[in-house]
Amino acid sequence: RVLIVDFGSQVTQLIARRVREAGVYCEIHPFNRVTVESIRAFDPKGVILSGGPASVTEAGSPRAPQGLFDMGLPILGICYGQQTMCEQLGGKVEPGHHREFGRARLRLKEQIYATGDCDLFAGIYEPGSEPEIDVWMSHGDRVTELPPGFRTIATSVGAPFAAIANDDRRLYGVQFHPEVVHTPGGKQLLSNFVHKIAGCAGDWTMKAFKAQEIAKVRAQVGKGRVICGLSGGVDSSVVAALLHEAIGDQLTCVFVDTGFMRTGESEQVVSVFRDRFNIKLVHKDASALFLSKLAGLTDPEKKRKIIGATFIDVFEEEARAVGGADFLAQGTLYPDVIESVSFTGGPSVTIKSHHNVGGLPERMNMKLVEPLRELFKDEVRVLGRELGLPDDMVGRHPFPGPGLAIRVPGQPLTQENLDILRKADAIYLDEIRKAGLYDQIWQAFAVLLPVRTVGVMGDSRSYDYACALRAVTSTDGMTADFFPFDMAFIGRVANRIINEVKGINRVTYDITSKPPGTIEWE
Ligand code: XMP
Repeated sequence: RVLIVDFGSQVTQLIARRVREAGVYCEIHPFNRVTVESIRAFDPKGVILSGGPASVTEAGSPRAPQGLFDMGLPILGICYGQQTMCEQLGGKVEPGHHREFGRARLRLKEQIYATGDCDLFAGIYEPGSEPEIDVWMSHGDRVTELPPGFRTIATSVGAPFAAIANDDRRLYGVQFHPEVVHTPGGKQLLSNFVHKIAGCAGDWTMKAFKAQEIAKVRAQVGKGRVICGLSGGVDSSVVAALLHEAIGDQLTCVFVDTGFMRTGESEQVVSVFRDRFNIKLVHKDASALFLSKLAGLTDPEKKRKIIGATFIDVFEEEARAVGGADFLAQGTLYPDVIESVSFTGGPSVTIKSHHNVGGLPERMNMKLVEPLRELFKDEVRVLGRELGLPDDMVGRHPFPGPGLAIRVPGQPLTQENLDILRKADAIYLDEIRKAGLYDQIWQAFAVLLPVRTVGVMGDSRSYDYACALRAVTSTDGMTADFFPFDMAFIGRVANRIINEVKGINRVTYDITSKPPGTIEWE
């Protein structure tokens, strides 16, 4: 395993992703929590120091524990990590006059290039070909004097020590970011560090993870009873399937059906989990309750809050009805767990109150089981396949907890407008799947607009709803861009919706990015 010490870079998580892709388990720990003792306890084979927004030249800026450098562990410093390593080992860092942001050319030293004698760069360039490779830089400061025992491996225009090594002590530093996709050889470089230099085996696979997690769950739960909220989304589905394999009938799943699901989704949850997996499943149809609680409301935040509170009430009631449980299973993922290093402080502004079941375990006096705490989203998908969940469930686009209720903005929800939206949405997704575009899109959905417009259908006048189609690309939902369908495709979808969905006579395509828009309309 490998330890990543986080100095607050925006892309620290990507380092972890690349290391795991190389088949090596790793964790991210914030610099201010890392001590020589905590490193010893974690027992890594190598340590990576991340980048970060601070400047080594400023008093009070973050440092690695000085004792780390005497532990005999291989270390790779990236950007700020390189700078602090150099400074802590007796080198010099100065504010750069050539700031480098974005693409840069890295020039390997003649000797490295000719003899390939640096393990870190093995396989990244063709010996005998051009001694320059593309890398991605983002730094103001730079190393200006190497600590004793180090040599220069590569330079760039803005960084005379763009890659450095102390081969005897297995200490390496790079000024560029090997973890981002804009550094084409970066994945190989990180793989070289964890395999060739740190000597990790590279046998961390999902199969191994599954077996390990099942054993952990059994040890944690014992003979206790576990309850799991199932929504049909990827995370809760994978949790349910994993727990079922671990503890069988000690698990009860509760599916609170809000009535805000898409076409066929509720049926799929029941058929997959109850019929195929044979999981004890309570399917509570609470659609009438949710609709009555939201009657007449249009304010997005009020709607979200009521849906969240109603969900918890219903879940709690159903959990009591099956006799309660000792544990609540949740699909918490690694990005929610990582304690990010914040340099700005202060609470951030609430844009939307997200729907979650926080607070429930305390209220119901249950302990948490969170078997996905160490995984990234796409690792969860791999685990889901490993557990035998259907592909269309595991590869599904994200779907918000409040469901279709937040896709009917500006007018009170009714069974009628939800049904209209459901039909339009199903046609849109059907066409996207048929065109083979589903996996290129982060999320696609229809929104029913609160306006009626005039149309002409046959020889008659129509006066019906307009609907908007949304499709975005994104890697994490934090930023997004609209998906560039070709016009013929959009035209085909619009035509089908207007012809097949009674109640809609106009279709528009939403081309707003995030920011300034959000992905959902409310
Ligand atoms: P926004 O609209 O904030 O959405 O750009 C970002 C991502 O979050 C999803 N989303 C939610 N997911 N509960 C969820 O579990 C919610 O209340 C919720 N609201 C938005 C949204 O679909 C997108 O993927």
